Amino acid sequence: MMVHLIRKLLLRFVTGEREIALTGRVPSRGELCEEFDNIDAFGLYLHVPFCEQICPYCPYNKERYRRDVAERYTDAVKREIDFYSDIVGKTSITSLYIGGGTPTTMLHSGLVDIIEHIRDVFNLQCDIHMESHPNHLSADNLSKIMSMGIEHLSIGVEALLDRHLKTLCRPYTVDEVREAIGRAISQGFKCVNVDVMFALPGQTYEEIEQTGHALVEMGADQVAAYPLFRFPYTRMGRTGKVNNYGLLQVLKRRRMFRILERIFYEAGYQRTSVWAFTRRGVPRYCSVTVPLYLGLGASGGSYLRGVFYLNTFSVSEYIKALENGRMAIALSVDLSERMQRSGWLYWRIYETRFRKADYQERFGKDLDRVYGGYLKLLALLGLLKDDGEWILLSDKGAFWLHACQDILSIDYVSKLWGTSKRDPWPEKVIL
Ligand SMILES: C[S@@+](CC[C@H](N)C(=O)[O-])C[C@H]1O[C@@H](n2cnc3c(N)ncnc32)[C@H](O)[C@@H]1O
Ligand code: SF4
Repeated sequence: MMVHLIRKLLLRFVTGEREIALTGRVPSRGELCEEFDNIDAFGLYLHVPFCEQICPYCPYNKERYRRDVAERYTDAVKREIDFYSDIVGKTSITSLYIGGGTPTTMLHSGLVDIIEHIRDVFNLQCDIHMESHPNHLSADNLSKIMSMGIEHLSIGVEALLDRHLKTLCRPYTVDEVREAIGRAISQGFKCVNVDVMFALPGQTYEEIEQTGHALVEMGADQVAAYPLFRFPYTRMGRTGKVNNYGLLQVLKRRRMFRILERIFYEAGYQRTSVWAFTRRGVPRYCSVTVPLYLGLGASGGSYLRGVFYLNTFSVSEYIKALENGRMAIALSVDLSERMQRSGWLYWRIYETRFRKADYQERFGKDLDRVYGGYLKLLALLGLLKDDGEWILLSDKGAFWLHACQDILSIDYVSKLWGTSKRDPWPEKVIL
């Protein structure tokens, strides 16, 4: 009840809306052209919705990998790229992120083809960042990943104790995953990111301390550490008691995250996003946090200036739509100016720092005039620092940002993704 109220207040405060309604309206080609007329650069996201096995806690859109489906999916994604080719023209793409699901399931069934097509059709001006599964990181596969031009790799490691890997149903041992990390690091990527989860059932503070030190010793360039969340529509969420915000749980997360913060700072890493620590001097591995992005694939989301839209989550419906010459957009929402400003600020703060001048450049408004009072209050509370030119999030600010984010996003993600998984073409979703 309390969390519900906080959520409503946060939504109202951040967006100025009582609710956000996504509807089945598909933006027209003309509207999309207009959007891109105003855009100098954008990020591209490609969703690979396949995994070899489905983990019980995982909220993402995915299904069991089948080679024949992956091959049809490849053709559908290429059609989607072709659809956007005239709309996007030669606008620069300044980040390409391949996520999932597990992108490395398609290493030998279409991924190379899709990346080549992206390079042929779009104006790609950036490195490629991709997620991977530890079981796919043989020496041969790693060379293949490199030869595809992927220079930033993320590995879903999750835990460094067999007991925890078992709880999470991860299909490898600690020794195996350590070897996979070692092989990836010695391959020469610009950045190897390791994903771990904490606040796992029964995990102790000593264990999280050992995990942090082990990751530093192994030479991970970046570590992204997420607390384990229970999404109500996942197997773990359905069977366990879902209480992501219980006081004890929040305190445990906070203490564990502090332990990790200390270990990474002492080892010379710096915070590069709310969740991630990157070794100094290494370019950070990042998912889509660029201000504007286009999403390809089943459940790919696009965030343009005036509109946010989401493709259907169903892989078969996605393929069918594109094979029949239709777009796969299932839901969209027009973004008011206030929503655009909040969205922009949210992602910049998520990256832990931004220049005030960038806000002025993007919205033609002085940040201090619009948000000066709030910034002063937040600085007074020690949540951020305003040095006149930059806004810098403090560690305390990062913790509270993700606490607020959890309260908003876990519920909204559950509603939006949960509905989209049940119904490929929902009429309406109200957040
Ligand atoms: C798409 S997965 C990573 C790539 C690959 N599919 C794998 O599992 O190895 C992205 C990351 O999200 C995080 N994640 C997934 N489910 C989560 C949950 N319920 N709570 C917190 N983090 C989660 C995990 O750290 C995971 O590595
Ligand atoms: S955690 Fe990774 S491997 Fe597991 S189901 Fe989710 S996307 Fe697939």
